[in-house]
Amino acid sequence: MTLKRVLSGIQPTSDSFHLGNYLGAVKQWVELQDGHDAFYCIVDLHALTVETDPKLMRKRTLISAAQLLALGISPEKATLFVQSQVPQHNQLGWIMECLTGFGEASRMTQFKDKSQKSGTDTTRVGLFTYPMLMAADILLYQTHLVPVGEDQRQHIELTRDIAERFNSKYGKTFVVPEGYILKEGAKIYDIAEPTAKMSKSSGTGAGLIEIMDSPETNLKKIKSAVTDAGREVTFDSVNKPGISNLLTIHSALSGRTIKELENEFDGKGYGDFKSAVAEVVVEYLRPIRSKALELLEDEAHLVKILHEGAAKAQAVASKTLEGTYKNLGLVL
Ligand code: TYM
Repeated sequence: MTLKRVLSGIQPTSDSFHLGNYLGAVKQWVELQDGHDAFYCIVDLHALTVETDPKLMRKRTLISAAQLLALGISPEKATLFVQSQVPQHNQLGWIMECLTGFGEASRMTQFKDKSQKSGTDTTRVGLFTYPMLMAADILLYQTHLVPVGEDQRQHIELTRDIAERFNSKYGKTFVVPEGYILKEGAKIYDIAEPTAKMSKSSGTGAGLIEIMDSPETNLKKIKSAVTDAGREVTFDSVNKPGISNLLTIHSALSGRTIKELENEFDGKGYGDFKSAVAEVVVEYLRPIRSKALELLEDEAHLVKILHEGAAKAQAVASKTLEGTYKNLGLVL
């Protein structure tokens, strides 16, 4: 029996992943590496769509690899690699751009939001074509499942549309992938502003829980998380977005259901509940941060894992690219 293929990617744009990255995506990556043929990619080319510093780029790519390993990605089970080390991503990316309508690409809400914020003069063309490179990342591996957070849903839809369009025009070439998006936890909110998505590119930082931050910092942030009117700890995302977000976080990390948590904190105040959430998050992240710091002490080992991953990824990617070129009538 051949295993279903899984692929996902994460940008190395920060010194740390945040809890949204983990709960919305990477936690599922770890689960899916068992029983699937999984490919996980640090998408450094996507990170170039905004201003970057070469020294930080290298450092953050290695920090990303260390964190993914510390969070449970195993190089024996999954193929972990860096996007720029597999040139087929750029090659298929061009084909994807040639299959996407300008209007279709203009409707991508992430592009619209980000370009509106920075203005057309500073927005890079790469930010506009970013979803087509993402489609290439996915389709190169004949991917069945793409574990991502809610904010990537529209990009997966675009990928499916491009794959179907290509297949019907040029013959069956790509597996049409499906998003693997959780019902709860696919969107983790900023704990200081619980109506906004937890994000490394927006917010003040006070509401961002980072994996590589010290336990003391995270403890302080969670204890000062914004809560809502009233005093009952109940899940109600419309009227109690702050408490609902904290319930989602606690439940995802402790493995207890939201119902159980509501019962436990029945009659207790927000203060007790926040202390409990802080304890769960800090103790969950403590060994992960230590492990990542330990892995970062041996850069050569990390680079070796990534090179081995890139070789395995290339073997699959080059086959898909060849089939694509052939079906397009390019002379091989
Ligand atoms: P990126 O690097 O912004 O985020 C990585 C993953 O984290 C998820 N995520 C969240 N989930 C829940 N709540 C949040 N607050 C939150 N913030 C981020 C994202 O949905 C994502 O799954 N375009 C992608 C990277 C990419 C990719 C790919 C993904 C490039 N090629 C191919 C899948 C397949 C991105 O920018 O993710």
